[in-house]
Amino acid sequence: MSDCKTYYLTTPIYYVNDVPHIGHAYTTIIADTIARYSRLKGIDTFFLTGTDEHGQKIEEAARKRGKTPKEYADEISAKFKELWDEFEISYDKFIRTTDPEHIKGVQKAFLEMYKKGDIYKDYYEGHYCVSCESFVAPSQLVNDELCPDCGKPTRIIKEESYFFKLSKYQDAILKWLKEKKPILPESRTNEVIRFVEEGLKDLSITRTSFEWGVKLPKEINDPKHVVYVWLDALFNYLTALGYGSEDDSLVKKYWPAKLHIVGKDILKFHAVYWPAFLMSIGYELPKKIAAHGWWTRDGEKMSKSKGNVINPKEVADAYGIENFRYFMLREVPFGADGDFSEKALIDRINNDLGNDLGNLLNRIIGMAYKYFDGKVTSENVEKYYPDELNEARSIISEIEEKYLWKMQTHKFLEELWKILSIGNKAIDAYKPWELMKNGEEEKAMALIGLIANLLAMVAVYLHAVMPKTTSKIADALGFEINNESFNAINEGKLLDDFVIKKIPPLFPKIEKPLMKKEEVVKEPENIITIDEFFKVELKIGEVIEAEEVKKSKKLLRLLVDLGEGKPRQIIAGIKEYYKPEELVGTQVCVVSNLKPAKLMGYASEGMLLGAKDKEGFSLIRPEKKKKTGTPIK
Ligand code: MSP
Repeated sequence: MSDCKTYYLTTPIYYVNDVPHIGHAYTTIIADTIARYSRLKGIDTFFLTGTDEHGQKIEEAARKRGKTPKEYADEISAKFKELWDEFEISYDKFIRTTDPEHIKGVQKAFLEMYKKGDIYKDYYEGHYCVSCESFVAPSQLVNDELCPDCGKPTRIIKEESYFFKLSKYQDAILKWLKEKKPILPESRTNEVIRFVEEGLKDLSITRTSFEWGVKLPKEINDPKHVVYVWLDALFNYLTALGYGSEDDSLVKKYWPAKLHIVGKDILKFHAVYWPAFLMSIGYELPKKIAAHGWWTRDGEKMSKSKGNVINPKEVADAYGIENFRYFMLREVPFGADGDFSEKALIDRINNDLGNDLGNLLNRIIGMAYKYFDGKVTSENVEKYYPDELNEARSIISEIEEKYLWKMQTHKFLEELWKILSIGNKAIDAYKPWELMKNGEEEKAMALIGLIANLLAMVAVYLHAVMPKTTSKIADALGFEINNESFNAINEGKLLDDFVIKKIPPLFPKIEKPLMKKEEVVKEPENIITIDEFFKVELKIGEVIEAEEVKKSKKLLRLLVDLGEGKPRQIIAGIKEYYKPEELVGTQVCVVSNLKPAKLMGYASEGMLLGAKDKEGFSLIRPEKKKKTGTPIK
């Protein structure tokens, strides 16, 4: 990686069905760190992020809020962009899948695949998870109906669909996975290989039961189909560079992507479907696909219904965006799941940042002024402290290849902290105050010089994670962080003489949690969508016959006319409240699509609506007489 000329990296594009949360912030912050590091090294870098705006999930989310999909997408996409801007995410392009250039690119890719003979028309019949926007094979279903990835109920769909010949690419994908080992962490490779080896079925790549998506290319002339949202979304990585437009100079310059960062839940789409699509249109495959784990909160999965979703802005407002960045990258090994707790964040700020880094800087500022009017020189550092210097240099020489390009940010940071520890230990071991007392001024000055150089190394390497904080450290140490100083440090050069600046503490101690403990408005667990509500068919009926069910204290047998020609028999538990003759000729509200049941030997083909309180039971009836069979809405 270190010798590449260009570096193109991407985050997933975020669904606009909901506002940004900590999981989105994590992916974006990792990508931003890698992008900043790559630029600091002098590599021509292109960093892409954006929003994924089509599909059934978005269409339904918009409808639920009474908006058009585009209105809704505009609103949420803007929220993502605003947040990334506020977090100073250094993206080069923010793509939206509703951008006309993107749509053109997707249509071009579709047509290419079609012309190649990789697409054919058929029917899809099976399970679909709207939440994951994914087709689920019967063998993968949990309890015959639940999505294996998100656990939500799937829907059965049957519709005309175009299919992509994914099966044709099975061997080529396997070869690529085995030979190029593109997946990070590498330990995840086997699960993807296993998935492919189980056999790839052709993939349904168009939908006909809703409209919110990219239309098929006009050459195919089949207007009722829209492109499957994952095909649409994956191509953003190419359309963002101009694929499908007149000017494809960026494609030439930056493709293939060096890195797609994704969550482990969407690895299959990136490591199996995406390469197959690319092979079909004859494009090179991405170099690395890095899959991170999931964040939980205080040990629990985050969900809206639990009301425990973390708003990244709230964390950043309370603790500072850079401290938050450090925490996320340091707290969990890349690929593993991580837990967000305010306590863990505070501990990282007070211990790692405050004690190990901030105090080391304060200690040398204090000593430099006490003994040498703030002057610092690197002059005798090599002479007195070669071991410390070499140990730190050897750490620096390895961390990039071993950890950074492999996304092991926690190890990368852990190693940098070893350099701080060399510094803190050196002060305790050589005791500059005793050196001064014993007249060893040169050695005391060299010790301050050693610490300044160790801090400079850490600041430069930490810059991509904490750009502003490290710039302040560099400023105190009389230099600027840029490609030149990055190279100088890597060539083993030491700092020029300078007068250290007194700066206010960078990490004031946090004594108590700072996040507002808002009363979270919980979405009730039992909430249903309007679609779910409309699954219940309610109708006005008229009781035409009624009699007691013998041997039952509670039941009446009614014949109710629902305007269907033949009246329905309904067995209702209302004997204590109504006499049969009172009911005949009155109107009632009936649940008409309830599965028939047998009660005391009688079939019951519906249910009456009623309300019961302390004063007794009352049937629900229309205010004015209505035609039998009128739907209740
Ligand atoms: N739109 C698709 C991606 C298309 S890319 C061509 C999508 N969007 S998403 O908004 O649902 O998720 C985006 C990313 O956020 C995924 O990488 C997902 O793993 C990540 N996260 C969502 N919730 C998360 C956590 N709780 N923790 C960590 N990351 C998680 O999938």
